[in-house]
Amino acid sequence: MNNIEKNYEDFISTVSHELRTPLTSIRGFSQTMLTSWDKLDDESKKKFLKIIEEQSNRLIKLVENMLSVTKLNCTEKGLIYKETDIAPLINTVVSILKNQYKNHKFEIDINAKTPTILVDRDKFQQIMTNLIENAAKYSDENSTIKITSGYCDNCEFVSIKVSDRGIGIKEEDYEKIFTKFSRIDNPLTRKVQGSGLGLYITKNLIEKMGGTISVNSHNKETTFEVKLPAYNPENQARVKCRQ
Ligand SMILES: Nc1ncnc2c1ncn2[C@@H]1O[C@H](COP(=O)(O)OP(=O)(O)O)[C@@H](O)[C@H]1O
Ligand SMILES: [Mg+2]
Repeated sequence: MNNIEKNYEDFISTVSHELRTPLTSIRGFSQTMLTSWDKLDDESKKKFLKIIEEQSNRLIKLVENMLSVTKLNCTEKGLIYKETDIAPLINTVVSILKNQYKNHKFEIDINAKTPTILVDRDKFQQIMTNLIENAAKYSDENSTIKITSGYCDNCEFVSIKVSDRGIGIKEEDYEKIFTKFSRIDNPLTRKVQGSGLGLYITKNLIEKMGGTISVNSHNKETTFEVKLPAYNPENQARVKCRQ
C-alpha cells in the first residue's frame, strides 16, 4: 500500500468511527423515545432530547472540520477578508462554549487598544473555537481558561493567547500536535472525544491568512499564541484580490 492509500485508509477509518458514535446514540435515543413514549416521564424525555441535540452538534462540528480539510487542499478561494474587531467574535465563541463547559471559568482580557485584524471572520471564529475548546477539553473542570490580547502600537501582527492549566504538552510533541489525526496518548485524551484534526486545520487556516501559531507549555500552563495580520490600508488590497 502506498502512502496516499494508507492516508486515505486512515482517514476513512477515523471518519467512520467518529461518525458512528454520535449517529448510534442519536438513533438509540430516538428509538427509545418512539417505542416507550408513554412510559417516559417529562424529565427523561428532556434528557434524551438534550443528548440528541448534543450529539447532532458534535456531528455538525465534525462535518465542518472535515469539509475544511478537503477545502484546505484547494485554492484560497472562498476566504472573505474583512477588517475585524476581535473582541466581539471572541465573546461570541466563549459564550457558546460556556454552555458546553459549564464548570470551567473563562477570563477574557482584550486590551481596548488592540488593533483590528484582516481575516475571514468565520475562519477566525473556527480558529478560536478549536483553541478554546481544546483548552477546556484538556483541563479540569473548575480550572480557568484565559484569552488575552495586549496593547500594541503600529504593530504588524496582533497576538492572541489562549492559556489553560491542564494536562500540558511535552516539548517533543509541540510539532506533532499540528499534524493530521495526531492525538497525544494519555488517560485524559482517551476519555475526551476528538479526531486529531482541530489543530491541523487551525494551523492551516492561520497560515493561509498570513499568520502564525505556536505553543508553549511550562509550569502547568499551556499557551497557544496566534499572530494574525493587523489591519492597515495597505494590506486592505488583499480584500479585493482574494475575494
Ligand atoms: N490545550 C491543550 N492541552 C494539552 N494537550 C492539548 C491541548 N490542545 C491540544 N492538545 C493535544 O493535541 C492533540 C491534537 O489536538 P486537536 O488537533 O485539536 O485534536 P483533538 O482535540 O480532536 O484530539 C490533542 O489530542 C491533545 O493530545
Ligand atoms: Mg481539538
